Amino acid sequence: MNINQNYENLEQSYLFSTIAHKVNDFISKNPDKRVIRLGIGDVTLPLCKAVTDSLHKAVDEMGVQTTFRGYGPEQGYDFLRAAVQNYYKKRDVELELDEIFISDGAKSDLGNILDLFAQDNIVLVPDPVYPVYVDTNIMAGRKVIFANANGENCFLPMPDNRDADIIYICSPNNPTGAVYNKDQLKQWVDYALKQKAVILFDAAYECFVSDDTLPHSIYEIEGAKECAIEFCSLSKTAGFTGTRCGYTIVPKALGKLNKMWLRRQTTKFNGVPYIIQRGAEAVFTEEGQKEIKENINYYKENAKIISDTLKICNIWHVGGKHSPYIWLRCPNNMKSWEFFDYLLENAQVVGTPGAGFGKNGEGYFRLTSFGSRENTKEAMDRFKKLFQ
Ligand code: MLT
Repeated sequence: MNINQNYENLEQSYLFSTIAHKVNDFISKNPDKRVIRLGIGDVTLPLCKAVTDSLHKAVDEMGVQTTFRGYGPEQGYDFLRAAVQNYYKKRDVELELDEIFISDGAKSDLGNILDLFAQDNIVLVPDPVYPVYVDTNIMAGRKVIFANANGENCFLPMPDNRDADIIYICSPNNPTGAVYNKDQLKQWVDYALKQKAVILFDAAYECFVSDDTLPHSIYEIEGAKECAIEFCSLSKTAGFTGTRCGYTIVPKALGKLNKMWLRRQTTKFNGVPYIIQRGAEAVFTEEGQKEIKENINYYKENAKIISDTLKICNIWHVGGKHSPYIWLRCPNNMKSWEFFDYLLENAQVVGTPGAGFGKNGEGYFRLTSFGSRENTKEAMDRFKKLFQ
């Protein structure tokens, strides 16, 4: 047996596992300190009522012979695909049901989709960015090149004249919170069409977009169906980080990829549980949409509290407006991991070191607004004590 040697080229552990390990170590040495976690983007508000009602009903159905379900369609039940289809229609994006694939979240599908592409493709990834894009391609032994995101381009890199076959875009961006406008996305679509490349568009944070002129989906851009696959998740939209449900759009205009993805999923995936899909369906009802908006507004208010504090402390930052993430420059020229340790030691606040998202993230730091209000305020009070 020969192991996959590409794993030797990865960091020793996944970014968020490294952080969890460091924090647990600190807690075991300092059991009396109250640590506030604003690191991994995990939600704190519970599932909304529309969702839990629907989940309860589905649980009851599963206990009755006539409504019990066994294996479901690997690509998702039609009731949920229709709900997603309708959600897109509200933005004038027409999708066919068999272009919509229900998943257990964007992270899994962003990795799994690589089954469809040959190893010799060149992969273009923005730097900094969600580490899953890079790590999954390193595992597969692909060549990865980077598009520099920095203060000068407002963390929104644009295409240049390099060749690329697989292009990752995350907008609103994790970790910087930057959002492409329609003109900028059109340039990426035109570039991908010219290169005959595919764009893997991560829309996991689309529900945080609060300006109607900004795109939620890449399919709002003309030509995108011929070059883009879109990934979305209910994790951040509706608090499904532990419940697990998302969707991936593979348009038929992409040629063979739609059929290949169906073939891949029917072979390697048994679908998301019926009960969970019923819960997810409720997110798209009028009541569900109203309830999740209240939760999103709660997180946006947290983001404002963080941003206001950073302003008072004179700490440069962006994000937080169309995104749950605030991207800040580490005070006193500290490096990212240095600041991580400093903050943990002196304020017991956990964030995510920018360097963990790529080399351009060095010297930056990410805070999430997904904490509770109480914890967010307390963390910001501790910031003021250190930096005001
Ligand atoms: C993050 O903190 O970047 C995300 O929560 C990670 C994820 O969604 O997998």
